[in-house]
Amino acid sequence: MKIAVIGTGYVGLVTGTCFSESGNDVTCVDIDETKVQKLRSGEIPIYEPGLEEMVKRNIKARRLFFTTNYEEAIPEAKCIFIAVGTPQTEDGSANLDSIWKVAETLAPLLSKEAIVIIKSTVPVGTNRKLAAQLKSLTGREVDVASNPEFLKEGAAIDDFSKPDRVVVGVSRPEVSEVLHELYKPFLRTEHPFLSMELESAEMTKYVANCMLATKISFINEMANLCERVGADINQVRRGIGHDQRIGFSFLFPGVGYGGSCFPKDVSALISVARNQLMEPTILNAVDQVNTSQKRVLFEKINRYFKGDLKGKTFAIWGLAFKPKTDDIREAPSLVLIDQLLEAGASLKVHDPVAMENVKAKYGEQLSYFDHHYDTLDDADALVIVTEWNEFRHADFDYILHKLTTPVIFDGRNLYDPENMTQKGIEYFGIGLSSVKDKS
Ligand code: UDX
Repeated sequence: MKIAVIGTGYVGLVTGTCFSESGNDVTCVDIDETKVQKLRSGEIPIYEPGLEEMVKRNIKARRLFFTTNYEEAIPEAKCIFIAVGTPQTEDGSANLDSIWKVAETLAPLLSKEAIVIIKSTVPVGTNRKLAAQLKSLTGREVDVASNPEFLKEGAAIDDFSKPDRVVVGVSRPEVSEVLHELYKPFLRTEHPFLSMELESAEMTKYVANCMLATKISFINEMANLCERVGADINQVRRGIGHDQRIGFSFLFPGVGYGGSCFPKDVSALISVARNQLMEPTILNAVDQVNTSQKRVLFEKINRYFKGDLKGKTFAIWGLAFKPKTDDIREAPSLVLIDQLLEAGASLKVHDPVAMENVKAKYGEQLSYFDHHYDTLDDADALVIVTEWNEFRHADFDYILHKLTTPVIFDGRNLYDPENMTQKGIEYFGIGLSSVKDKS
């Protein structure tokens, strides 16, 4: 099938590449000339395991093309996926300017059989608005479909190629059949293709992300409460997770969720609800808990050093919003860095892949180290913000020897508190029953 994908961000690039991998003829369109030049030579603008090899392989097989010119992609395409950004506006709603601009540009080039599919996360009602706009631009009915994407950064190829489910919103069954055919190589009996109304598909994406964000804010609030009452969230997690209705997944306490999706989508759904004159009590709380959770590490550090952080040096391990990505959008590390700098501390930082992005934001304000152990020289404490695998089995004797004060603040509960005590390291995690932490 001939496919066009508009927008070569995370979702667009992975979508285009995975569809070409399953034998389709895919042209990806982006307005950024430099980006397109790089992509043509197989250089990808993001860090995503396995993606670069897949892009190169499909370019070589002449199934994957990149262009800035809509005319090279749209007229022959049966399916046109729109995967442009829908950033958050100041009032929390999604900014759809890019979607409308794309619609205007592609309308005159559409073939009669074309289906225009929105992959970007968009508020309920957007697909119907797009259909109306395409009708007024072309003077005829154009098939529109909603096809939200659930992939996670760092596992994008796997998530796309083995999705838990594929959701499409359509206004007639024939459109659903075409999309079902396209997705067949990725489906299994237990990974179904779910076809529904446009509005339900749009809502599914928000509800999925907001449900996951709710789990995180809930467990973070419980973790904070565990600390205060002398309970241990790890034990509690085990205690609740065996109940199959609850389960274990996505209930790891930490320093709050970040990234390009959860914060934006929670705000957007709040805005959708308010437009319907409904105040979404739970979503508001999820957002508030997350904002304060991003400050929890600083509060622990500040309390330990009795409010005197001026001139102190901290080693920070992990800057990306989660492991296996260089993405620092809405990352909890940024909140911590701002707070520590404001308090007059010096920061020695390391991240396996996100350092360039942090450098672009903070420049000389931070000291950057290629190896995480090199951040420890003369540091007053070690602070862990992202749970990269390489931090999991640390050499504690070395850490102890290097730190001025033998203390670790761990925002991801990577280490065994008892082991830390035996080593003579003071250890503060999230939701652990450390007596010292309850001051
Ligand atoms: C998310 C959704 O998972 C995905 O389905 C959607 O398409 C886009 O948004 P992503 O933003 O890549 O994907 O990251 P994800 O792995 O879901 O993690 C989001 C945040 O939640 C991270 O900051 C992570 O550290 C945090 N998190 C996750 C927790 O704090 N605890 C957990 O138990 C799980």
